[in-house]
Amino acid sequence: MKAFVAGATGETGRRIVQELTARNIPVRALVRDVEKARSILPGEVELVKGDVLDQQSLVTALGDSTVVLSATGAKPSFDPTGPYKVDYEGNKNLVDAAKAKGIEHFVMVSSLAASQLFHPLNLFWLILVWKKQAEEYLQKSGLTYTIVRPGGLKNEDNTDSIVMQNADTLFDGSIPRQKVAQVCVEALFEPASRNKIVEIVAKPEAASKSFGELFAGVV
Ligand SMILES: NC(=O)c1ccc[n+]([C@@H]2O[C@H](COP(=O)([O-])OP(=O)(O)OC[C@H]3O[C@@H](n4cnc5c(N)ncnc54)[C@H](OP(=O)(O)O)[C@@H]3O)[C@@H](O)[C@H]2O)c1
Repeated sequence: MKAFVAGATGETGRRIVQELTARNIPVRALVRDVEKARSILPGEVELVKGDVLDQQSLVTALGDSTVVLSATGAKPSFDPTGPYKVDYEGNKNLVDAAKAKGIEHFVMVSSLAASQLFHPLNLFWLILVWKKQAEEYLQKSGLTYTIVRPGGLKNEDNTDSIVMQNADTLFDGSIPRQKVAQVCVEALFEPASRNKIVEIVAKPEAASKSFGELFAGVV
């Protein structure tokens, strides 16, 4: 297995890279700024300079990767096209490139409430609408996929247990980015993760379950 990580310099992406390297999985990271990436990512990671909006370059960028993990996301800004471009078009471009390369598994970080049009997060240039469009594009692609919809992201890890549920059944809650990264990487190894949307939050009172049990609990 060789993992291609888009959004690798991001707060979640860098933790995905950490989890992959901790499992000795070689990583190829798509980065926009190589210098910045060198200061953030482990030395053994292969860096590929690129942009998910540059569709033509992505097939080459994927190189000899066998799985793709996308943790890209538009940053809040005054550009009304940000979420359309990064969250939808960027992921669509990655899906197309993954198909062209015969990628074995595509893991996409989306968001809780992706199906809700009347959600306050959509005040950020319809970000949830565009994430949902990207999800549907991946689902229809024919690729093996896992769509991970986390609640509010936190930088500090904690000892809370992960709660994993079916699409459109969790409506609030938060989760440390490290746990999101673990779910994304475990999805590559758990057959029960395939072709599913999983919603995740973390709760102190939740029962602790193995990743196999968590993914098996989602239809
Ligand atoms: N914040 C929350 O509470 C929350 C909740 C649920 C879901 N989410 C979603 O979870 C995901 C990860 O969030 P995060 O806060 O950890 O991310 P983040 O720190 O904002 O990182 C986003 C990453 O996307 C990359 N990126 C943006 N535009 C790109 C482009 N055109 N080409 C290539 N890379 C590009 C950024 O690259 P640079 O480093 O070069 O800028 C960065 O690596 C996002 O999809 C986010 O919407 C967030």
